[in-house]
Amino acid sequence: MSHPSVASTESDAAPAERTHEGTLAGRGVAVSANDPLLARLAGGPVPRHIAIIMDGNGRWARERHMPRPFGHRAGMKAVRAAVEASIAAGVEWLSLFAFSQENWQRPASEISALMALLEEYVASEVNELKAQGVRVRVLGDLSRLDARAARAVERAVSETAHGTRLGLNLFISYGGRAELVHAMQQIATEVQAGSLLPGQISEDSIRARLYTGDCPDPDLLIRTSGEQRLSNFLLWQVAYAELYISSVLWPDFDRAALYEAILDFQRRDRRFGKVSK
Ligand code: FPP
Repeated sequence: MSHPSVASTESDAAPAERTHEGTLAGRGVAVSANDPLLARLAGGPVPRHIAIIMDGNGRWARERHMPRPFGHRAGMKAVRAAVEASIAAGVEWLSLFAFSQENWQRPASEISALMALLEEYVASEVNELKAQGVRVRVLGDLSRLDARAARAVERAVSETAHGTRLGLNLFISYGGRAELVHAMQQIATEVQAGSLLPGQISEDSIRARLYTGDCPDPDLLIRTSGEQRLSNFLLWQVAYAELYISSVLWPDFDRAALYEAILDFQRRDRRFGKVSK
């Protein structure tokens, strides 16, 4: 389904099955003997889809007596680590909350610094992302982006369109409630046009009209910096996600921190409302 608020090339992406996690070996991932933490993940279930609320850039900068954009720049480097670690671990989808709808209320100087970082991220990383087999999509109210940021988004999406190892969802100008409103408006339009009957509205038909309609729900939701909130991120999709709160500030959240989160996930008993086997 095409979606005005999603920059993607969905025709290239095979629709994901809505099954849950499998093991590293099951995904054909060769485990490096040089990375003991990664080796410890082998044999256990690896989340197919990890979502991250990247929080704490401002505090990281403040601790260093530096302005907030300094923390965002350091946060951009942590994005690279998260992408690489996800690929190494065999994760299929990584969703990163980079800029919320509410973030438009930040000072103009911080907003422009974040948009400039988005452009810089695309300029400096797109070739590497492509080489690594990453397929980038950008999800949110993209109509609010300025022309330069919008061009960067288009470039990232089009140049990585054929990546098959990791789907990287960058959420920009995104709010979970707005995403639901958008889906409901689409459904109402279809009902009014007679192409959908009210009785046909189901969980699946709502899910299909979300920005994330073609990827499985996150198995694991990570929030850094110790905050324990969802902050309007993927409200529908995280219904059965395992939550992992890390006290680490986002710029310091490295490969090892991501592997620790996956190891913690492997100790969870996911019952989906049923009883343990
Ligand atoms: C939250 O920290 C972080 C953000 C609002 C921005 C996230 C941006 C990046 C990680 C860098 C850019 C990423 C890409 C993909 C280009 P905060 O500022 O709310 O931190 P605080 O709670 O400590 O103030």
